[in-house]
Amino acid sequence: MAPRAVILDCDPGQDDAVAILLALASPEEIELLAITTVAGNVPLALTQRNARQVVELTRRRDVPVFAGCARPILEPLVTATEVHGETGLDGVSLPEPTLPLAAEHAVDAIVRLVMERPPGTVTLCPTGPLTNVALALVKEPAIGPRLAEIVLMGGAKALGNVTPAAEFNFWVDPHAARVVFESGVPITMIGLDLTHQVLVTAPRLERIRAIGTPVTRAVHDFLQFFNRHDTARYAIPGAPLHDPCVIAHLLRPGLFAGKRCRVDIETEGRFCRGRSVVDWWGRCDRPANALVLSEADADGFFDLLIERLARL
Ligand code: BDR
Ligand code: CA
Repeated sequence: MAPRAVILDCDPGQDDAVAILLALASPEEIELLAITTVAGNVPLALTQRNARQVVELTRRRDVPVFAGCARPILEPLVTATEVHGETGLDGVSLPEPTLPLAAEHAVDAIVRLVMERPPGTVTLCPTGPLTNVALALVKEPAIGPRLAEIVLMGGAKALGNVTPAAEFNFWVDPHAARVVFESGVPITMIGLDLTHQVLVTAPRLERIRAIGTPVTRAVHDFLQFFNRHDTARYAIPGAPLHDPCVIAHLLRPGLFAGKRCRVDIETEGRFCRGRSVVDWWGRCDRPANALVLSEADADGFFDLLIERLARL
């Protein structure tokens, strides 16, 4: 089967970086058309640079990196440097990238790539705030029906990680998340309920280190940094490796399980801004707009990830 055409829209971020690497390591299944970057974990100037550094770490120069929106639609940008460090990729020191940033704006690149490919063939994979994706859908509504699907990391049916109610990507740009969930595009939502089962434990980190390549040494070092915040905050044996679950779902959907539900995004509210309201029990009689994945085979995920990282 021909590989699936994918645009990865991200805000690297150590876990976004692993998502990039997993996609690059899987050319039989994934044709990575572009990496589009957005402000999120750190400002845009850093997310676009980090994406280029990660691509360059693999010695690939054929995947273009685009810079998109520097701030959310309505809210001021709030970053997550307490998790990712000041650079967004703390824990490793990579050389300044020589891969040039593509000249086109990420929103225009998303629109162009979806419009020039046959209908139903491009999958959009956002792993950061949904600003670029929402603006692409607003700028050219014709991309909605042409997309195969949107498989995204964001939201939670239970607890949030920025506030008790909201997950980071949706909390940073709730209006963008609302546009996406109301777009009619088939959505697969990978939220915190699932990613908090996929932990970077010490034995898993050691398996990555033991591969011993420049790529896996870098991954080991930045994941060791990434582990610090979440293991302390949640008293768990490793940080949740959120974003690569999106790519793993494309590669091995059988590693994950969930159910189709209605999901609405709260954009206002004293306590609940950015909350993904997941109608898990079908209480609201409205049509489902997302497949909400809630269970992961974490060992199967890490077996896949480690096998793929070893290829780079
Ligand atoms: C999400 O927020 C970011 O910090 C991570 O990169 C991930 O995309 C998890 O809430
Ligand atoms: Ca991210």
